[in-house]
Amino acid sequence: MKHLDIKIALTNADMVGTDAVICGWVRTFRESASVAFMELSDGSSFRRLQVVIDKEKVACDAECTKLGASVAVKGTLVKAYKGEGNELNAKEVTLLGACPADYPIQKKRTTLDFLRGIPHLRLRTNTFAAVFRVRSVAAQAIHRYFHDRGYYYINAPLITASDCEGAGEMFRVTTRPWNAADKSEEEYYKKDFFGVKAGLSVSGQLEGEVAATALGKIYTFGPSFRAENSNTTRHLAEFWHVEPEIAFAELPDLLEIEEDLLKYLIRTVLEECPDELAFFDSFVEKGLIEKLTHVANSDFAVCPYTEAISLLEKVKERFKFPVAWGSDLQSEHEKYLTEEVFRRPVFVTDYPKEIKSFYMKQNPDGKTVAAVDLLVPGIGEIIGGSEREADLGKLRAAMEERHMDMAAYRQYLDLRVFGSVPHGGFGLGFERFVMYVTGMENIRDVTLFPRSVKNIM
Ligand code: 4AD
Repeated sequence: MKHLDIKIALTNADMVGTDAVICGWVRTFRESASVAFMELSDGSSFRRLQVVIDKEKVACDAECTKLGASVAVKGTLVKAYKGEGNELNAKEVTLLGACPADYPIQKKRTTLDFLRGIPHLRLRTNTFAAVFRVRSVAAQAIHRYFHDRGYYYINAPLITASDCEGAGEMFRVTTRPWNAADKSEEEYYKKDFFGVKAGLSVSGQLEGEVAATALGKIYTFGPSFRAENSNTTRHLAEFWHVEPEIAFAELPDLLEIEEDLLKYLIRTVLEECPDELAFFDSFVEKGLIEKLTHVANSDFAVCPYTEAISLLEKVKERFKFPVAWGSDLQSEHEKYLTEEVFRRPVFVTDYPKEIKSFYMKQNPDGKTVAAVDLLVPGIGEIIGGSEREADLGKLRAAMEERHMDMAAYRQYLDLRVFGSVPHGGFGLGFERFVMYVTGMENIRDVTLFPRSVKNIM
């Protein structure tokens, strides 16, 4: 159907006086004796288009006046009587699809929890439509950022035989039910589709390293899967993962790239989604725009893990989880560091090797690795990354300590055999970024159909 997007119809001053067809869903309808006003949205912009219907001249089916009905309106664009932009003087109103009174999206504000129960309809609300427009703008900005800086876009496989993070959080991929005739796990997998144990990838990093050690700078942007039993507001079983990998990059280079990327993405969202951000600022997180503007214009803090532990130890009685050198930071610790100590994003670097993955570069102190996590207020960890161990002997030793199957990582080890180079990369959780820029507090509200423990609607 030939029609004009509301975003264009609303804002294009040159179109005043021209005829257009607008399609959309009815968001409000009110009328007096002679004139009716209908607000339409078509998803193209936060703002709605007002349609003015002269009741004496234009017939309007009663079904077209109902909240949620879909209509096509032919009319003339005129300068809005009130406010900025244009409105449409209707000549003909056609019903596309009626919407019965039990439409679950009613005008009164409903709870996010209620809307989670109707994921197929919740995008028709202001909040969710705004989240997904921001998400789309951010995704485009990610590709633009890397493309403009000479990175190549790589698609890592989603089915893999190696558990990148080594934490055993993989969903299994199998075509065979367990069979009592199989004497061992090995025998079972031998008869399975791939002939070995396979799963959904938790990260594209290992393949990213393969590409970076040939193409120089690469990034992947795709789904990662984690079968971790973390029923929190920041964990999904399926999330989107941005993973750049850079040859010849050392830890300080990674910090620089991460900060630059995050600021670029924030600036883009501020520039391209002003109406959405104004809405989030008013209804979701007061002061959001100021927070983002401040972050885009100030330096991130840097704090080595050992120093972070000293800061936390000073107030350890405040925390539920113990604070001790060697244990991982819990979200309450991350919250304290970002929201009370530094009050801005903070890079925590050089973690104890025992709590980080096998592939991270071992520091000369023999105790820590060249890892960096970026923590942000309100969310906690948004990026995890490291310089990679480029020394074959050291990498082998780290893998042996973890009793890893060396044969399964032969190709990965080969990268250290043939022209090994210092290199590093990181993973940005895309949903966590969208939470950060929209102020949404639950990760289930920034992805279309969230998958989490006991939840696959
Ligand atoms: O810190 P993670 O586990 O790091 C990696 O996977 C590395 N291989 C990345 C790399 O160096 N290429 O995950 C990276 C980021 C986290 O900081 C977080 O933002 C996000 O991925 N993330 C999740 N997001 C949603 N749900 C989950 N279950 C997540 N697990 C990690």
